[in-house]
Amino acid sequence: MASPKSLALALLCHLAVARPTVQLDNGTFTGTTTGSAPNTTSNTTSFLGIPFAFPPVGDLRFRLPVAHEPYNGSFNATTMSPACTQQALVYPDLTLLPFPLGVEVNAILHSVYTVVTPDSEDCLYINVIKPNWATSTSNLPVVVWIYGGAFQTGSTSQNDGKVIVERSIFLNKPVIYVSMNYRLSALGFLAGPQVQQANISNIGLQDQRLALRWVQTYIAAFGGDPTKVTIWGESAGAISVSLHMIANNGNPEGLFRAAFMQSGSPIPIGNETSMSAEQAFNQFVTKAGCNGTTDPIACLRQANYTTIKAAQDASPGPFSSSGLAHIWLPRGDGVFLTDNPQTLVENRVIAQVPVVTGDCDDEGTMFALANTNLITDDDFRGWVQQFWYPNATKEQLDKLLKVYPSTLPEGSPFNTSYLNGLTPQFKRIAAYEGDLVFEAPRRFFQSAISQNQWAFLSKRLKATPLLGSYHGSDLPFVYSQSLLLGELRDALIYFINNLDPV
Ligand SMILES: *[C@@H]1O[C@H](CO)[C@@H](O)[C@H](O)[C@H]1NC(C)=O
Ligand SMILES: *[C@@H]1O[C@H](CO)[C@@H](O)[C@H](O)[C@H]1NC(C)=O
Ligand SMILES: *[C@@H]1O[C@H](CO)[C@@H](O)[C@H](O)[C@H]1NC(C)=O
Ligand SMILES: *[C@@H]1O[C@H](CO)[C@@H](O)[C@H](O)[C@H]1NC(C)=O
Ligand SMILES: *[C@@H]1O[C@H](CO)[C@@H](O)[C@H](O)[C@H]1NC(C)=O
Ligand SMILES: *[C@@H]1O[C@H](CO)[C@@H](O)[C@H](O)[C@H]1NC(C)=O
Ligand SMILES: *[C@@H]1O[C@H](CO)[C@@H](O)[C@H](O)[C@H]1NC(C)=O
Ligand SMILES: *[C@@H]1O[C@H](CO)[C@@H](O)[C@H](O)[C@H]1NC(C)=O
Ligand SMILES: *[C@@H]1O[C@H](CO)[C@@H](O)[C@H](O)[C@H]1NC(C)=O
Ligand SMILES: *[C@@H]1O[C@H](CO)[C@@H](O)[C@H](O)[C@H]1NC(C)=O
Ligand SMILES: *[C@@H]1O[C@H](CO)[C@@H](O)[C@H](O)[C@H]1NC(C)=O
Repeated sequence: MASPKSLALALLCHLAVARPTVQLDNGTFTGTTTGSAPNTTSNTTSFLGIPFAFPPVGDLRFRLPVAHEPYNGSFNATTMSPACTQQALVYPDLTLLPFPLGVEVNAILHSVYTVVTPDSEDCLYINVIKPNWATSTSNLPVVVWIYGGAFQTGSTSQNDGKVIVERSIFLNKPVIYVSMNYRLSALGFLAGPQVQQANISNIGLQDQRLALRWVQTYIAAFGGDPTKVTIWGESAGAISVSLHMIANNGNPEGLFRAAFMQSGSPIPIGNETSMSAEQAFNQFVTKAGCNGTTDPIACLRQANYTTIKAAQDASPGPFSSSGLAHIWLPRGDGVFLTDNPQTLVENRVIAQVPVVTGDCDDEGTMFALANTNLITDDDFRGWVQQFWYPNATKEQLDKLLKVYPSTLPEGSPFNTSYLNGLTPQFKRIAAYEGDLVFEAPRRFFQSAISQNQWAFLSKRLKATPLLGSYHGSDLPFVYSQSLLLGELRDALIYFINNLDPV
């Protein structure tokens, strides 16, 4: 006969291997609980890799996402899905930099921009992390994370949502964390008039929107309150959050009640009918061998994945000489984004939800590393004209050069005097690009918002050589394991709960 002690051990072992489940429709999803005891208040339970759409493969490639049918049967929800197909990434040449500075800067660039593996076209999966004690009657507020990566790279696997949930329990402000994959690069943001006509614009943004609908349908089963959803993102993820606020003519459809943005606002990107979108489409179609066909989009759907991937990889990335003038981005399509984003902001077509939005002080520095070949004032002028304002007059360019002088103390990293002048134009390009793509669109967005809003400018990690408070430098202060660093994380958690970050 078993002794009480061995019975107790057997019971403990049983508890340790017991898997948490959740019932969605007629589907049973098995997740994982972190830690050894399934019922300790600070432990979390994760349900990972839940399909929210039909795999966008075959004829569903280059189509808006199609919602998954009601679930039935058993699902293993213990691991995340592959990332969506990533675009290849070329990092800037840092051989100019002395050892060990080059090594340090290189490591930072790789931590902010990562090509995630494995990746796949079949990638539309969602993850839910909850306090392990939450049940379908808990009604906890929910935060939905949208990752960044220039709309070219990134995945839910890069950031650990458990950190947010654990801290929220510690603060006695428990939340449920959700993250979804969305399609990237050409597969997610193919652009041009023909794309608009086919009604397949902004696929990646529509993936996110479908995931937000999924949250409405299913989050209560995990213990979440579908009326208390905050959408949150960084970089391309923050741009996405801001675009969900102006999408659908500013009607949030009850999908979210608050928005938290780190380094991203509606950027000046124009319409599907713009010249740049049409050029990008034509180049892509040609690279994929579909030019001259009667229905190039149908041809792209049938194309070999290797071919599509190679055509996509040939697109400019964040460290190309064109800088942040990307080609695969959300654009005004006349339906989902009824006009180009800047016009919508100007017309105050914006969801009336509370907002927290912030940038880092030196958003442009890492991108300026791609332009170390620009040495003289004329080099800078030519670059601005080529990639940003091809039709600007001489007077306009004169003014711009005056507002962004090459004097080192005026450039970015700001407030570093004569330090960090890698080239005579480096700090100037960094200041210009940081303002153009981050600070100015944020201020413009904020000026159009009439509801409650809070803003921040992160000067953390200012001492980082060359980069200062670089793009992405605020992210560790949210996701880092170390609770000492977490004041931005706590602001986020208070905001999700109380619609007030303080
Ligand atoms: C679940 O199964 C029951 C019994 O088989 C069926 O009546 C019901 O329609 C199913 N629900 C869904 C959402 O599939
Ligand atoms: C789970 O909770 C227990 C008890 O509080 C703790 O010892 C353990 O470290 C936790 N596990 C994790 C992964 O946090
Ligand atoms: C649901 O799953 C059960 C058991 O696997 C199966 O018998 C049934 O046909 C499925 N129902 C649907 C609607 O797919
Ligand atoms: C679930 O999937 C993981 C990863 O593929 C695997 O290790 C595990 O054995 C699976 N569990 C079940 C019950 O199938
Ligand atoms: C967790 O354990 C505590 C103490 O044993 C108990 O009071 C509580 O009801 C349990 N919670 C759940 C959700 O099982
Ligand atoms: C275009 O897609 C939207 C969904 O985003 C849908 O409401 C609309 O009916 C579609 N229009 C056409 C012409 O297919
Ligand atoms: C497609 O473009 C390629 C490269 O520009 C060119 O060689 C080829 O002739 C074009 N094919 C058609 C059918 O237009
Ligand atoms: C796709 O195209 C590549 C290069 O042309 C070729 O090597 C590969 O075998 C093709 N794959 C399939 C599945 O057709
Ligand atoms: C963008 O598209 C909208 C709707 O199609 C149109 O009204 C607007 O004039 C366009 N704006 C630009 C800058 O092309
Ligand atoms: C620049 O001007 C040309 C000629 O007027 C025009 O076709 C083109 O669309 C303009 N480009 C931009 C980016 O405004
Ligand atoms: C930091 O630099 C900016 C831009 O050059 C300047 O406007 C600001 O006054 C400086 N702040 C401090 C504290 O020196």
